[in-house]
Amino acid sequence: MSGSTGYSNGYHLQQCGSSEKRVGTSQRERLRKASRKSRDGRGGPRVSYDEQQQQQERPPCTDFDMAYFHSYSHLGIHEEMIKDRVRTETYRAAILQHQSSIEGKVVVDVGCGTGILSIFCAHAGAKRVYAVDASDIAVQANEVVKANNLSDTVIVLHGRVEDVEIDEEVDVIISEWMGYMLLYESMLGSVITARDRWLKPGGLILPSNATLYMAPVTHPDRYGESIDFWRNVYGIDMSAMLQLAKQCAFEEPCVETITGENVLTWPHVVKHVDCYTITIQELESVTTRYKFKSMMRAPLHGFAFWFDVEFSGPAIYPTNSDAPSSLSGSSSNSPIDGSQRKKRANPNEALVLSTAPEDPPTHWQQTLVYFYDPIEMEQDQLIEGSVTLSQSKENSRFMNIHLEYASGGRSFVKESVMR
Ligand SMILES: C[S@@+](CC[C@H](N)C(=O)[O-])C[C@H]1O[C@@H](n2cnc3c(N)ncnc32)[C@H](O)[C@@H]1O
Repeated sequence: MSGSTGYSNGYHLQQCGSSEKRVGTSQRERLRKASRKSRDGRGGPRVSYDEQQQQQERPPCTDFDMAYFHSYSHLGIHEEMIKDRVRTETYRAAILQHQSSIEGKVVVDVGCGTGILSIFCAHAGAKRVYAVDASDIAVQANEVVKANNLSDTVIVLHGRVEDVEIDEEVDVIISEWMGYMLLYESMLGSVITARDRWLKPGGLILPSNATLYMAPVTHPDRYGESIDFWRNVYGIDMSAMLQLAKQCAFEEPCVETITGENVLTWPHVVKHVDCYTITIQELESVTTRYKFKSMMRAPLHGFAFWFDVEFSGPAIYPTNSDAPSSLSGSSSNSPIDGSQRKKRANPNEALVLSTAPEDPPTHWQQTLVYFYDPIEMEQDQLIEGSVTLSQSKENSRFMNIHLEYASGGRSFVKESVMR
């Protein structure tokens, strides 16, 4: 997934919040029971108390959500994701690696987009795949399914995961839900909803877990281009622009590609997410304390954030507390074993989709939170503080970043919003 803002060119009213539209008609009979459960209650069977409760608890679909779904009706965003071969090929490899858990089984693809992952699952032998998407791209997904003669297997449901009805339990949930900095866009909540509504006990979730990292970075070229540039513009001293330049360049987080050479020391785990156990409430706000020791003398320009996701079988780490300490979201600054971020050679080991600076680039790049002014770090100098990532109250798909950092006897606070 990439950020939707680049495509948020307004929105129109669609089916958000109402019962799902199943695209196409060839599977009508199969879904007969499901469609009887129309949420308006007219003409269908009586809705049980439990179902009424569930419906009342469903989160409302806001104007922001509608704009978000509308952004995904633009083909460009899907083209970018599909052309990201690291992303798409890792998902396909993971599906093949877990083929024995998919063959003959029922799958839900949460946010199917063009339907690509649903079709991979059908090719892997799934008995039935519910391909759910609230965006109008679902209409095209259904055409793709038909053109590939998969209408008997892949059922496209055009609606929110929170609203659609699936009248059976499922064996597998697959979803590509990750936003910039992992949690931007807040789509993981919809995967949790799907899990809690439909996944059989012992079912499989792909990806199974995710880890968000941060590390201090030096980036003199970037600082030079955006800030030092104003010191001498065609021989004119435009230093008067410096404060404004810092504000304009660094007020918001920047999505850009850095390399391992920009990173000053080992990363710190901000949050480990176990997709089998994480709750929606846990995602509202994530706080971690960090302490880094710079491995070199260099100007420190800010922090980079990146993530990886792992495609392992169910419940490798049944609870967060059972996760290995380097991946548990603790505040330690222990080195991360590089092999944990790599696709593993042994096919019995979990595949990893990494967006780390030292790994091949993806469309997620890295997210940089720059300081307004660099800190000149000596080798072994400490920098410590805390970071809180929280869903914006205004629009839960935005992320507030509260960063505190202290080094060399000075301390700072930076607030920013990822919109
Ligand atoms: C990152 S795209 C992934 C598309 C496709 N699975 C792929 O891998 O190319 C996420 C998709 O999820 C859809 N989506 C996000 N939240 C959803 C929800 N709550 N219900 C249904 N669809 C959702 C979006 O409309 C978007 O098409």
